[in-house]
Amino acid sequence: MTTGVLTRQLAPGIEVQIVSPADFGSAAADLVQNQLAVKANAVIGFPTGNTPLPLYHELLRRQQQGQIDLSQLQPVMLDDYLGAVGDEPISFYNWLRREFFDPAGIAASRIWRMPTDPDGIDEACRRYEQGLVERGGVDLQLLGLGLNGHIGFNEPGSPADSRTRVVKLTETTTVANAAYWSDPSKVPHSGVTMGVGTILEARSIGLLVNGAAKAEILRAALLGPMTTAVPASLLRKVQKVHVVADEAAASQLG
Ligand code: F6R
Repeated sequence: MTTGVLTRQLAPGIEVQIVSPADFGSAAADLVQNQLAVKANAVIGFPTGNTPLPLYHELLRRQQQGQIDLSQLQPVMLDDYLGAVGDEPISFYNWLRREFFDPAGIAASRIWRMPTDPDGIDEACRRYEQGLVERGGVDLQLLGLGLNGHIGFNEPGSPADSRTRVVKLTETTTVANAAYWSDPSKVPHSGVTMGVGTILEARSIGLLVNGAAKAEILRAALLGPMTTAVPASLLRKVQKVHVVADEAAASQLG
């Protein structure tokens, strides 16, 4: 277990683990390791972005040290860009493969990939959900937190019972994402995401939040009204959420 952590209960069933930035990746990796300890072939949903990078580095480090066995892990995706097909380096699928799955030796055939081809996308989203059911459901869904409170690409206004679908991205999100593209004019304006309802059905949820820029929205998510205007606040509908926040992100929690 990571040392120097403070665990608080801010809402029923929501545990907040506050860690130093140096312990952030390790605390997040503990969620994965604890899950795999009880179910070696756990179905785990993985996000992309800056937040989970320390998690992936730590998982790879533990694997190299022989401390964690990822050989039966069944990874599923949380979201991707609509139209990010083929080798598009910025597709979330390729990003996850580059940062985590490939170096971890997780074969592409084991990854349940979010559909991104606009052709037949609605039917593909239904098949995606079906694939989750066929895997027995998601054991652990890991999430980052958007500056506007989004989880996955569930932007403000996303209903609590929404399923995997195409969504229009807000300007906040496309501006934040532009940093990852060499040509900002190419940033896609639509995403494909597990719905809020899909996420809430996971048997456990890990919300990873770091940095001062997320302090206000984390406070809104955990202590403000439970509302579709802040999709992450809907996580309080279920009592199985573990938040890992660094001190800067947790600074407004009182
Ligand atoms: C990415 C995703 C998004 C991000 C969120 C935070 O797969 O689903 O919800 O988790 O936008 O992004 P970062 O971590 O880059 O601040």
